[in-house]
Amino acid sequence: MTLSEENTVSTPLGIIMNGVTGRMGYRQHLVRSILAIRDSGGLELSDGRRIVPRPILVGRNERKLADLAAQHGVEHWTTDLDEALRDDSAPIYFDAQVTQAREKAIKAAIAAGKHVYTEKPTAESLDGALDLARLATEAGVKNGVVHDKLYLPGLVKLKRLIDGGFFGRILSVRGEFGYWVFEGDWQEAQRPSWNYRKEDGGGIVVDMFCHWSYVLENLFGRPEAVTAKAVTHIPTRIDEHGQRYTATADDAAYGIFELPGGVVAQINSSWAVRVFRDELVEFQVDGTEGSAVAGLRECRIQHRATTPKPVWNPDLPVTERFRDQWQVVPDNADLDNGFRAQWEQFLRHVLEDAPHPYDFLAGARGVQVAELGLRSSEEGRRIEIPEVTV
Ligand SMILES: NC(=O)c1ccc[n+]([C@@H]2O[C@H](COP(=O)([O-])OP(=O)(O)OC[C@H]3O[C@@H](n4cnc5c(N)ncnc54)[C@H](O)[C@@H]3O)[C@@H](O)[C@H]2O)c1
Repeated sequence: MTLSEENTVSTPLGIIMNGVTGRMGYRQHLVRSILAIRDSGGLELSDGRRIVPRPILVGRNERKLADLAAQHGVEHWTTDLDEALRDDSAPIYFDAQVTQAREKAIKAAIAAGKHVYTEKPTAESLDGALDLARLATEAGVKNGVVHDKLYLPGLVKLKRLIDGGFFGRILSVRGEFGYWVFEGDWQEAQRPSWNYRKEDGGGIVVDMFCHWSYVLENLFGRPEAVTAKAVTHIPTRIDEHGQRYTATADDAAYGIFELPGGVVAQINSSWAVRVFRDELVEFQVDGTEGSAVAGLRECRIQHRATTPKPVWNPDLPVTERFRDQWQVVPDNADLDNGFRAQWEQFLRHVLEDAPHPYDFLAGARGVQVAELGLRSSEEGRRIEIPEVTV
């Protein structure tokens, strides 16, 4: 065998995947990432080796796992996490379980010497999240957390504008996230019921503030203070079994985040809002030289030179079509599925030590922003966000 033939040999890589019967675990991580990498012949490393993921599915329901495995040509599945963790051919553990089940499972994976990649939030409390970061560091295992919003084409374009100096001095950011989640009575809810029960790890602050934490940090700088108001607009909902339950978790949060350089970010997150926007999340950034509105996919800009001069006069009808005065930012690149791109980045981190800044400490910063956001709401005050270390 020649050297080049040797280099194209495919090497299987066992990845223990827990929680793949869930929404995120199945669609984004198993199907669109790991199986997509497997089915395209594997991930090519810089030395030419091809790594082919071999998922080992872990979950609570034998039948669901067996069906999933059969449907997707996956050989290994188990309901016994410890058994999976004993598999030496699988150096990576992945967790997309409900948030509440995560910390314990990740601790077991670290103890078994696995590298760990996980959905967010990494834990339910900052102490728990920092504990995981410390344990992973001490064990010397690679660790990573999902940070998918940074890969949204709209935010990729926004980042490009920032890096290119389009905005001049950035003044403010306003984010609008949300849509109506049905209560479950006359139309089925489109999100699992645990999201609306605090005791089960639910709540929009816990869910979304960790996203806003890394989005703000990577685009504008680490949030330094938070002021938030979290509320439960819909007090009762109907669960998957048709039973009415009390929504104990917040379903909307109105937050102000103070960023370096006096930039103020104000982000509304809500599962009790009807969409009158172009996309389910949108961020408007205003700067001295120009402004942009970025959504999941699109990004529009208005430069200082093309900014109209509206005059406030409620006695006159609107004379301008404000939305038409913005220019579309082109893609200028192939923007692949973000979950797959993150998986590839993490696999390279494990296999060839490529950089991966989104580690458990970054995840802990997200949990911290959520925790302090909730505290701000409870205490009705602004709270500074101290820097955390392992
Ligand atoms: N990155 C993102 O954009 C994003 C979006 C939604 C959810 N998430 C995160 O992904 C995780 C899973 O969310 P989801 O919406 O896929 O949830 P889901 O309810 O659809 O899936 C939960 C998974 O956890 C498993 N599980 C383990 N223990 C459980 C228990 N005690 N009760 C219920 N299920 C249990 C389920 O079997 C299932 O596989 C959460 O931590 C959530 O915060 C991330």
